[in-house]
Amino acid sequence: MDILKNYNLTKLNTFGVSVFAKLFIELDNESKIKELFLSSEFKNNEKLFLGGGSNILFTKDFNGIVVLNKLKGISIIEENSKNVFIKSMGGEMWNDLVTFVVDHEYWGLENLSSIPGTVGAAPVQNIGAYGVEIKDSLQSIEVYDIETGEKKIFKKEECEFGYRSSVFKNKLKGKYFISSVTFKLNKKQNLNEGYEVLKKYLEDNKIEVKKPKDVSDAIVCIRKSKLPDPLLIGNAGSFFKNIYIDSKKAEEIKLKYQDVPLFEEDQNIKIPAGWLIEKCGWKGKRIGNIGMHDKQALVLVNYGGATGLEIKDFSEKVIASVFSNFGLILEREVNLI
Ligand code: EPU
Repeated sequence: MDILKNYNLTKLNTFGVSVFAKLFIELDNESKIKELFLSSEFKNNEKLFLGGGSNILFTKDFNGIVVLNKLKGISIIEENSKNVFIKSMGGEMWNDLVTFVVDHEYWGLENLSSIPGTVGAAPVQNIGAYGVEIKDSLQSIEVYDIETGEKKIFKKEECEFGYRSSVFKNKLKGKYFISSVTFKLNKKQNLNEGYEVLKKYLEDNKIEVKKPKDVSDAIVCIRKSKLPDPLLIGNAGSFFKNIYIDSKKAEEIKLKYQDVPLFEEDQNIKIPAGWLIEKCGWKGKRIGNIGMHDKQALVLVNYGGATGLEIKDFSEKVIASVFSNFGLILEREVNLI
């Protein structure tokens, strides 16, 4: 096994933070998983599985073993007149899978175009955008038990998906390694344009949706106009999660801000964290090398050279400011290491 020492992770996290891992291995073959999990280097060290590094903030060197998921392969495993079942290995880039699916004209993932990260990491936080979440088309997940190296399958119902959350982020955190994900997609048109921004874009541009690619292209344009490209400027997408509030709190905020955007979702009221941050004056604000993006206040950006600790400190200022103005607690979406 090729375990490397003192490995630089700068290129493996989209914040571009410069940190080192004590031990590092690229896992490119499923047959090597058990051997790795039973090895002393793995057993005796803290472990971190890394995909695209697009949802992580390193605040210090990692004094353990980093396993980079490089398991590749996308295949159609079953189909019937209505559905197709596609299995993707966890080390595939999420957007490569979306491109494969969209090119084959299957419906289900088109709203999730252009999201950074890997397929294996996507279900952990139930990635979502433009009215769709990965859970909507996920069929099952294959995992390996970190203690024993044994393979196990989780059906969708066992994954306890919620807003940016799953069982793998909560009670089973650190217990399993996700090796592949299987999706159930539609052969017939199954458009989800409920999200206002998408609906408006399609209307304004007079796009008549015929193929998943029509939606995918629209999403790519919307995202490009709002979200910074991590290849050009360090960021991890939304840094915080949106907040769900009760109707009493909603009324209280509405009294002060008639323009507050509130979204009702299954009896819950969502208040966009981006709006709260903007109202507190952080949109486009920069301190040193760190700032909140000028087109989407939920995205924290590293203009270059910021350390993880500096980014964390900055995020704490934003949290404090939203708390003092609204009495609401922002939670980070990004994982802090
Ligand atoms: N808003 C503002 N100011 C801002 C940003 C947003 O007022 O600077 C308000 C606006 O009212 C806007 C509303 O917030 O209409 C919603 O904004 P947007 O459509 O950009 O979505 P979001 O709720 O801020 C979520 C996801 C994004 C995803 C978008 C689109 C979370 C934490 N974020 O953001 O996901 O792309 O919806 O569906 O749920 C990510 O997770 O990394 C990510 C980028």
